[in-house]
Amino acid sequence: MSQFEGVYREVIEKSEWVAIATTGPDGPHLAGCWTRYALALGIQDDEIVFPAGGYQKTSENLRRDPRIELLFATGAVARAKGQGQGCTVRGTGELLTSGPKVDKAKAQFPWARGALVVKVTGLRTHLS
Ligand SMILES: Cc1cc2nc3c(=O)[nH]c(=O)nc-3n(C[C@H](O)[C@H](O)[C@H](O)COP(=O)(O)O)c2cc1C
Repeated sequence: MSQFEGVYREVIEKSEWVAIATTGPDGPHLAGCWTRYALALGIQDDEIVFPAGGYQKTSENLRRDPRIELLFATGAVARAKGQGQGCTVRGTGELLTSGPKVDKAKAQFPWARGALVVKVTGLRTHLS
């Protein structure tokens, strides 16, 4: 069963963009994506795929250290103590440049040179 159920799916679906964090030799590195791009490619089976136009440094970092964290957040989800929620997704990432996932990314995003594939190992919310 997918981990993307309940509040996690709601936060992701209502967020506008996602921060993508990797670790490089010089320290942390951030990239971004519009959430709708990942939703267009389908978030399922504990995997999130982003269309890669750039992500050069992200890809270099992942070759050294495959750990990746994503942060989705939205003010449009209600929680017990207020409004708004964020969700960190932890996992491992790889930038693929060929194969069915890349073909799918290129079909929807002709500018894509590849697909950034994140295998999800854990999820957490940020606000109680
Ligand atoms: C809101 C937002 C959406 C973005 N969407 C994409 C995207 O879909 N694909 C992409 O390759 N870069 C996207 N970028 C640019 C990346 O964050 C990054 O700057 C660029 O790909 C270079 O990556 P690198 O620093 O890993 O080399 C987006 C940036 C922002 C702020």
